[in-house]
Amino acid sequence: MAVALCPGSFDPPTNGHIDVIERAARYFDRIVVAVIANPTKQPLFTLDERKDLLADVLSHLDNVEIGSFDGLLVDFARQREISIVVKGLRAVSDFEYELQMAQMNAALLPGLDTLFVTSKPTWAFLSSSLVKEVARFGGSVEGLVPPLVEKAMKEAYGGRDT
Ligand code: PNS
Repeated sequence: MAVALCPGSFDPPTNGHIDVIERAARYFDRIVVAVIANPTKQPLFTLDERKDLLADVLSHLDNVEIGSFDGLLVDFARQREISIVVKGLRAVSDFEYELQMAQMNAALLPGLDTLFVTSKPTWAFLSSSLVKEVARFGGSVEGLVPPLVEKAMKEAYGGRDT
């Protein structure tokens, strides 16, 4: 069975993430979405909230499961016996860092390959950070994230002084 990991912070999941995961799900028997528990930046949503949002917005894909990890991605890949990572690439600017991470991961776990899916031009400008910035200042993120995520962001910024 061909299984791939789609790792990320998903804080929050955007339409760009969903597009990459939907496309990866067509090429693999199973996709394990790997949500990092403690991203470098303080997340807006807790790990459980991010996992719940992902489970909901990906519920139409029956070959996708949501997992989480803390620490190194290679340890999670080794533990789950998965040897392929799928990442989205929005622009050349993403490539440099993604290439470095792919090569570091392969150095840490020989045999771990990273495949890149190019982002649809519609979502090329989209990032979780920008979406949070827009929502934080009261802008509309409609059409950039699923309605459920939009609602969760409104609640998060309404109730938290972030
Ligand atoms: O959605 P993001 O924030 O771009 O995802 C980045 C992520 C979580 C995939 C990346 O930071 C990661 O794999 N972190 C785990 C720590 C790790 O394994 N670091 C070494 C990789 S070079």
